[in-house]
Amino acid sequence: MHLYGTQKINAQGHLEIGGTDAVELAKTYGTPLFVYDIALFRERAQAFQKTFEEAGIGYQVAYASKAFSSIAIYQVAAEENLSLDVVSGGELYTALKAGFPKEKIHFHGNNKSLEELEMAFEEGIGCIVVDNFHEIGQLKKISKDRKQPMNILLRVTPGIEAHTHDYITTGQEDSKFGFDLNNGQADDAFGQTHEHKYLKLLGLHCHIGSQIFDTAAFRMAAEKLIGKMSAWHGETGYLCPVLNLGGGFGIRYTAEDEPLEPSVYVKGMIETVKETAAAAVFPLPEIWIEPGRSLVGDAGTTLYTVGSMKEVPGTRKYAAVDGGMSDNIRPALYGAKYSSLVANKAEAALTEHYTIAGKCCESGDKLIEDAELPPLEAGDILSVFCTGAYGYSMASNYNRLARPAVVFVEDGGHQLVVKRETLEDLIGQDMSYRKQVKS
Ligand SMILES: Cc1ncc(COP(=O)(O)O)c(C=O)c1O
Repeated sequence: MHLYGTQKINAQGHLEIGGTDAVELAKTYGTPLFVYDIALFRERAQAFQKTFEEAGIGYQVAYASKAFSSIAIYQVAAEENLSLDVVSGGELYTALKAGFPKEKIHFHGNNKSLEELEMAFEEGIGCIVVDNFHEIGQLKKISKDRKQPMNILLRVTPGIEAHTHDYITTGQEDSKFGFDLNNGQADDAFGQTHEHKYLKLLGLHCHIGSQIFDTAAFRMAAEKLIGKMSAWHGETGYLCPVLNLGGGFGIRYTAEDEPLEPSVYVKGMIETVKETAAAAVFPLPEIWIEPGRSLVGDAGTTLYTVGSMKEVPGTRKYAAVDGGMSDNIRPALYGAKYSSLVANKAEAALTEHYTIAGKCCESGDKLIEDAELPPLEAGDILSVFCTGAYGYSMASNYNRLARPAVVFVEDGGHQLVVKRETLEDLIGQDMSYRKQVKS
């Protein structure tokens, strides 16, 4: 059994995370419960940053907080000197409430509203990652009306799509995000922004995929983006000082996944950026990255209580837990795979196979197919590993299930950071209806 971060099996034969018994956590806070190993988050954040420091290159590591957004995680991110990537007024508001340094916030999104952009100006955030021509128009108007400068990056699609070990390169990319680098759109966006009185163009951004397990596609993207920035430099003399290569660094969900260390991804990028910039006689840009999953993914574990069980003779055994697609949509949405361990029987022999079903009213609500586990009983605490990214942040109230609580554990301490929703919360926005009778 692969354990993550500070996880271990304690003297009671229970799973322990951050120095706290997971079975005790389930008793104290109830289930389903998201548990974050904060030491692992810090270790990853420091590993990315240390590699840049050692290379002596200008950088920003921004936590891509769509992976998990809450006041507490933003506070930890700030403690670790990370920058922050937000994609909505809601994430921005949460970051501001957390007291996150405004100048280190980068605002993403393919359809930012006028209100969201105005909020970004009002708060004086660090940078807006511009996605499309409509947004350029909005930014020009707001910055002129307010007579206020704003740093921007242009998000481009470089025609490289990466996923795990594979990547494809295409002349043109069919993506809802960004300006195409190959068909002239990126050049038009550069033309519209680089001399603007208030918009300060810092450079280019791309995000080429998720769960990427090697450095080749990042290197290729870096070459293409530097090629473009250096061509613009040659043509206009305008120097873009920043290259943002996005996120997508892989993590180990199951034994099939073989991610690289953060340092390996970063070293690969730095090497290519240095070589490409030197060959183009282009000043070395700062490198910015945006890890999400690789900061919070395997730091998160969900604890569930096992309830009903069903056997389809000769076919499979189902064990149902007290959550499901409402707290983790990824298996139902795109067949994501997870590994698990029975927290109260962590040393028991794995003699059975179960399909772990959620409690939502959907046949597809299965968290894990054919999990190798000891014989299960109602009341067992099942821990599902690596649920820290895109789990809570994609959670819903489907079937009017209350969203789980979130607890941070570190150095033997545990602290509630997001309260479990109550039945009252579930109807909090509801209003009665009475048919209006026309007089
Ligand atoms: C622009 C951008 N940056 C960063 C990320 C984070 O990716 P990951 O969580 O795979 O590191 C995403 C994820 O969708 C993204 O769209």
